[in-house]
Amino acid sequence: MSDKSAIKKPNGKLGILTPGMGAVATTFMAGVLSIRKGLSEPIGSLTQMGTIRLGKRTENRNPLIKDFVPLAALEDVALGGWDIFEDNAYEAAMHAKVLDKDLLNDLKDELEQIKPMKAVFDKNYVKRLEGSYYKKGVNKMELAEMLMEDIKNFKKENNCERVVMVWCGSTEIYIEEGEVHSTIEKFEEGLRNNHPDIPPSMIYAYAAIKMGVPYANGAPNLSCDVDCLVELAKQTGTPIAGKDFKTGQTLMKTILAPGLKARSLGIDGWFSTNILGNRDGEVLDDPDNFKTKEVSKLGVLEQVLEPELHPKLYGNLYHKVRINYYPPRGDDKEGWDNIDIKGWLGYKMQIKVDFLCKDSILAAPLVLDLALFLDLAQRAEMKGIQEWLSFYLKSPQALKGLKPQHDIFVQLMKLKNTLRHLAGEDLITNLGLDYYD
Ligand SMILES: NC(=O)c1ccc[n+]([C@@H]2O[C@H](COP(=O)([O-])OP(=O)(O)OC[C@H]3O[C@@H](n4cnc5c(N)ncnc54)[C@H](O)[C@@H]3O)[C@@H](O)[C@H]2O)c1
Repeated sequence: MSDKSAIKKPNGKLGILTPGMGAVATTFMAGVLSIRKGLSEPIGSLTQMGTIRLGKRTENRNPLIKDFVPLAALEDVALGGWDIFEDNAYEAAMHAKVLDKDLLNDLKDELEQIKPMKAVFDKNYVKRLEGSYYKKGVNKMELAEMLMEDIKNFKKENNCERVVMVWCGSTEIYIEEGEVHSTIEKFEEGLRNNHPDIPPSMIYAYAAIKMGVPYANGAPNLSCDVDCLVELAKQTGTPIAGKDFKTGQTLMKTILAPGLKARSLGIDGWFSTNILGNRDGEVLDDPDNFKTKEVSKLGVLEQVLEPELHPKLYGNLYHKVRINYYPPRGDDKEGWDNIDIKGWLGYKMQIKVDFLCKDSILAAPLVLDLALFLDLAQRAEMKGIQEWLSFYLKSPQALKGLKPQHDIFVQLMKLKNTLRHLAGEDLITNLGLDYYD
């Protein structure tokens, strides 16, 4: 497709559903309501604040992205989700302690209306959580069917034309793709037999994709990134994207590493450590759950630096990532990086980064952008893996055998060129020789 008029218009309301209504999801929800009321600005959201250059530099055409492609307006968004705690979005946001009480009180009436639906949950996949608000079913297939029923009811009750789902639930334990994920038939059999390699997030993903509801995974656990669900997404015409919101330390890494590489500066070591004290930090304190996060965080540098192509610069790179649960900090994470680099003639230098970030403040706009772009993708009849949304993700999902792109600048170029392509505009190569002809 390369004609903007061929993209279906975002008529009616768009439901954005989040499995998990914790710190990230409630910061996203309160943010949407606050921005809608004119109380805050959507800072950090490319769909709301970003521009896109069109045509030649001399044309001075730089519309806002939201004016350039037909995205759902924030006024047309309905919010909902699931959790294993019964707290409504106001209570959960108060508990998460990310946003000021004053702001939350201004939004209290609307936030209180967002009540979680009963989750699909199994403590075996998130050991540090004790909740009781979850569904009981004879098997995982029945649970998936209940989720589909929830989605239908939400759509009806909120008068939505379309729905998208973004996983904002806790990080589940590390699972590798196996036989049960190889085909849709085996997976559905696995759902009926309660196969242990089907975690709750995959049950949500299955329910969404089966119904043609676009799905993104904001956590690092295996979810929609398995063969059977990619195949199902193609069959049902559903866009999917995963995984793990790119915020905090990894965001910094994918900003810095491409810059150092661009200058052919070598890197001998990159040590990253974090302290954080929110519920996410508590869940990640369990080694099985941390393993999932670690794998997601470690892949980034290898792909950006390509040591196989540059053995003298990055062949011996020592990369270590640590997350330490430290309750006093709450959602105010502190991430330290020590980077040992080398320059001309092998002379050694160091870079120290100390990022005092607010995890959920960085993640909330990504939930919004992923939801709005997935909805756009579906109206543009794009289905399966949406690699152009890698920009938002730490472990971007790509076609099997294709190396994912981690360099944030390459990811941004890919995203913007995809939008230009969708709207029938020329792609921008930055060659620019014609200016000098
Ligand atoms: N904040 C960030 O910058 C960031 C970055 C990358 C990834 N993430 C991931 O995003 C996810 C959410 O982070 P958070 O800070 O909001 O965590 P959180 O602990 O505050 O919220 C997660 C919520 O999910 C709920 N939950 C767990 N399993 C569930 C299930 N099966 N169904 C429904 N609800 C379930 C929990 O009860 C909790 O309320 C985590 O997996 C985290 O690793 C966050």
